[in-house]
Amino acid sequence: MSDDETPDKPGFSRRTFLRGSAGGAALTGLITLSGKAHAAKTPPVVGPSAVPIKLDVNGAVREVKIEPRTTLVSALRDQLKLTGTKVGCDRGACGACTVHLDGVPALACTTLAIEVGERKVTTIEGLAKGDTLHPVQQAFVEHDAMQCGFCTPGMVMSCAALLAQTPKPDRVEIRQAVSGNLCRCGTYPKVFTAVMAASGQPAEGWTLETRGVGDGKAPPTGTAWVGIAGGSVTPEPRTVPPGEAAPWPTSVGLSVVGKPATRLDGRAKVTGAAKYTSDIQLPKMLHGKRVVSPHAHALVKRVDTAKAERLAGVKAVFVVKVQEGATLVDPSTEQNGKFPRIRYAGQCVAAVAATTPEIADAAARLIEVDYEVLPAAIGLTAARAPNAPLVYPGPVNLGGSAGGGGAAKGLPQRANVRGPTEQVNGNVEEALAKAPIKVTGEFATQVQTHSAMETHGIVADWGPAGLTVYVSTQGTATVRDELATVFGLPKTKVRVVCEHMGGGFGAKFGAGHFGVVAVELSRRAKAPVRLMLDRREEHTSVGNRPSTVQDITIGANADGSLAALDLVSHGSSGIATGAGVGWAAMRMYPAPAQRTRQHDVFMHTGPGAAFRAPGMPQGVFALEQLIEELAERLKIDSLDLRDRLDVDKPGGVAAEADRIARKLERRIGADRIGWKTRGAPGAGKGPIKYGIGVAQSMWRRIVDMNSACEVRLHRDGSVQLRSSVMDIGTGTRTALAMVVAEDLGLSPADISVEIGDTRWPIGPASGGSKTLVGITPAVRQATHEVKQKLLAAAAHKLGVATTDVRVERGKLSAAGKSLAWKQACAALPTEEVAAIASRPADWNGPKADGYGGVQFAQVQVDTETGVVRVLKVVAVQECGRLINPLAVQSQINGGIIHGISYALFEDRVVDRATGRVLNANLDQYKVLGARDTPFIDIVLLDQYVGLTNTDAHGIGEPANVATAAAIANAVYHAIGVRIRELPMTPRTVLAALGRTGKVVRS
Ligand code: FES
Ligand code: FES
Repeated sequence: MSDDETPDKPGFSRRTFLRGSAGGAALTGLITLSGKAHAAKTPPVVGPSAVPIKLDVNGAVREVKIEPRTTLVSALRDQLKLTGTKVGCDRGACGACTVHLDGVPALACTTLAIEVGERKVTTIEGLAKGDTLHPVQQAFVEHDAMQCGFCTPGMVMSCAALLAQTPKPDRVEIRQAVSGNLCRCGTYPKVFTAVMAASGQPAEGWTLETRGVGDGKAPPTGTAWVGIAGGSVTPEPRTVPPGEAAPWPTSVGLSVVGKPATRLDGRAKVTGAAKYTSDIQLPKMLHGKRVVSPHAHALVKRVDTAKAERLAGVKAVFVVKVQEGATLVDPSTEQNGKFPRIRYAGQCVAAVAATTPEIADAAARLIEVDYEVLPAAIGLTAARAPNAPLVYPGPVNLGGSAGGGGAAKGLPQRANVRGPTEQVNGNVEEALAKAPIKVTGEFATQVQTHSAMETHGIVADWGPAGLTVYVSTQGTATVRDELATVFGLPKTKVRVVCEHMGGGFGAKFGAGHFGVVAVELSRRAKAPVRLMLDRREEHTSVGNRPSTVQDITIGANADGSLAALDLVSHGSSGIATGAGVGWAAMRMYPAPAQRTRQHDVFMHTGPGAAFRAPGMPQGVFALEQLIEELAERLKIDSLDLRDRLDVDKPGGVAAEADRIARKLERRIGADRIGWKTRGAPGAGKGPIKYGIGVAQSMWRRIVDMNSACEVRLHRDGSVQLRSSVMDIGTGTRTALAMVVAEDLGLSPADISVEIGDTRWPIGPASGGSKTLVGITPAVRQATHEVKQKLLAAAAHKLGVATTDVRVERGKLSAAGKSLAWKQACAALPTEEVAAIASRPADWNGPKADGYGGVQFAQVQVDTETGVVRVLKVVAVQECGRLINPLAVQSQINGGIIHGISYALFEDRVVDRATGRVLNANLDQYKVLGARDTPFIDIVLLDQYVGLTNTDAHGIGEPANVATAAAIANAVYHAIGVRIRELPMTPRTVLAALGRTGKVVRS
């Protein structure tokens, strides 16, 4: 567990260095009270003054005034407004800022603008020729080689440079070309495919098969289809309220839904036109900078902001007064003086707003803070030790965010351990005592940071008419509600906009502490303030997947049936709660006796947050390894064991379907990975071993009724859809257009989708794989309502009954007569017809339990070096009615790549002495890159539970749940030694081999 370890050295930012600081402004001194705009009497000047230079950019010579320390990316973005070039790390580690210098890829964040000289700069905005996209851009759109799109400009530039030099690159050359471009969404397989296509070559190895079901006919009246591809669908009774859209046929009978569609915003993303929060530039906008504590546990004794306030260009200074983290049940148990107590290194103490980022940085460094440093509890073991320094002096409570996390109120708390949260069925002790077979183990998982390519950020604009914020968020409405509450504003006076965002993975649901700080700075400065966290702040202060230690025991009978399952977990979300992992243990394999006891352990580290399938990758890592151990003890194939264990769960509509689905998925996956060719664990000869492993997953079906939209149909035939739901990169924008297009006989591109703005009807936050479950029934309902008006207008025009009119592709027909789409719309009684619909409730019928899938991993383990490579992953997944297979494939690729990265590489490292995160960057915190991307083979099964008018589900979570466990089981199969700890680094693997004496020498 790396939070208990100390590696070599912390990193520093080239940009910070260029600005004249060797340590990172984020860890300098802190604040004093102020609140006014400041006029300096004798303003100090920072740095040499700006000088004019010429840059040849995209074929035009442009003059800019820059300071010698100005980087090329700053000159491009801030002065020339070419914001397609992104900043992901600011230190040459991510490739988001890739441009061409004389046709050669270069990192604009580590190139000084003044160094460019006469070289020709090409940015993403200069790649297309007029309306004609570069072949790489075109291929990226056609093959969906993007998700959030934040890395896409840099990725496209690297690929375009490759093709200019090597017109027919092979796979190795493509991987090499983009090896410096990180994509946290895991789009690499589609990037490889797109580059092969752009170079006129077939791409193999990253495949998708979709399997439909049914005959394409509408279900009989009063029923909806229930079933799954590979089996059959049957009509189940459903009561559809009057006026609601009737159930669709299975997708075999649909024209748009279920068929691959390119993204509506694909062109914007590949040309750099898509605007992210960091691209927003408002008139008179200021730049914010936080001052954070370098100490993990301290009392703030003095904050002096006088020098910062005197700096020319500083417009507001703010000292934080509200304590971050959980709330003490009895606040009198802690005396902190004038300032909040510091509970982790990276906690915000103060902030400034200034006219340039450089001045804001300088001002932050001028703030003086005196600390009384206190001992800190760092590491799961140390925090649980007797006499460990206390994070909280007494019991606390902390609610979850919109994205999960948090824990129940009023749990017991002893020192730094809170809980347990306990779930019990039956008498576990007795059942375990009687069970003839028992398997047990302790499993440990590390802290994983979200590491979205776009850091958290906000542009806050407090004005007389209200507050407008542009924010990188997963939930526009959740941010609005939070800011309205904090600042005492009516919701109507808070507008939240998120047109595009560069990844969130669960950490971006609320306004966050930094967001509140930015709004406060804007309020004080009376000007818009942009506050983007830097990469260090991103790693330390805005969320992570908690660490865990899990003790799990399974009791079984001789026939393999389960007698009992018992889990005790301890995990740490730092100063927050929400480290539970018990859902998998309680729900995946029912047993007569089951118990989970989950504890949060407080540490002096940054708060955890919801992270893609919260708790599940950790829980399944332990559970699915133990299931494999049980199969080995029983001497039966583990797939056969799972067939026995997947019994019907009582009371769920999908209960039987789940059982059938898992069995089917296991068989499909087993065939594709070559399961039957497996030898005994560790039986391979030589030092390089190969293994195959399996794990299965489940995820719950979450319905967010805060899901509404407006559909407008105009007389000219144009169609608008509006909702505050945003597109996190999953393709929500396109999926919603597909739903509208399906029922109106149009193409998705015919629908103008305006989302990500709280001016429109409320949409669900994007997270928990709940977006499409929530919003698509509302979209279909609003479409249905405007369609009825259109049908009536067409019927009137055609002289037939409304019920006789049919919508077909691009026309409306009845009785052998038809109207083209635009003719029909021209017959509308008013210039536009519109409908606002909220999500209809689920139809009658049993509750859907959830949905799942199976993943198989094939690995190679070098027993001399301990290096594990994942060669191939097969994923077989059901995900409700498939809306857009192209986007679903992208998400599953991304979930698997996240899972591999978690299994093998990612590990937050905290210095036990200081509590500082030592790898708070993207070079020492390793995330999976192009070279580590395996082949991925996906099979998607259409599934119907008949509970809504779309039957859509989400897929972001389930795609990520099983991967680490499947890899762990494959590693065991390869080497015959179980790795019970993540990440499975060479050191971990070698240590495990060493303990068992299974090291093989060549
Ligand atoms: S922003 Fe330049 S490499 Fe990351
Ligand atoms: S698409 Fe690459 S980071 Fe999101």
